[in-house]
Amino acid sequence: MGNKTLAILKPDSVKKNYIGDIVKMILAAGFKIKGMKMIKMTPESAKLFYLVHKDRPFYNDLVEYMTSGPCVPIALEKENAVAEFRKLIGATDPAQAEEGTVRKLYAKDKAENAVHGSDSDENAAIEIAHFFSTQELV
Ligand code: CMP
Repeated sequence: MGNKTLAILKPDSVKKNYIGDIVKMILAAGFKIKGMKMIKMTPESAKLFYLVHKDRPFYNDLVEYMTSGPCVPIALEKENAVAEFRKLIGATDPAQAEEGTVRKLYAKDKAENAVHGSDSDENAAIEIAHFFSTQELV
């Protein structure tokens, strides 16, 4: 069994019909999907999910954007999942993301940046539990 990470295909990815292409990249990179669904986050859920950013100037805009339409949280498994997924998606700001990364290909800017990835094993566990119950994880 590998390590876990949480991905979210954010509202801009859903609106622009990028879900299939991004999931294809995730699977091609060797990740296993352990849970996946489409939801529309409530403001309460988004505020809690991004609580670490509550003092940042972009916090309210971030909550508004994450609740602006459906998104697709995905629980993923792979050896070294957190680092491997962050490598696949590239830098937060697509202008600084490497060629061939998800954000280079699909993100507009550092706010609407197509996809989320957990930043540590500890946060991955917390973030997966934010979206998925035990029976939703296969
Ligand atoms: P994510 O990896 O989901 O984690 C925090 C999110 O905040 C980030 O992706 C962006 O969507 C957003 N974010 C980070 N930095 C900025 C910024 N400077 N301006 C606006 N949004 C940001």
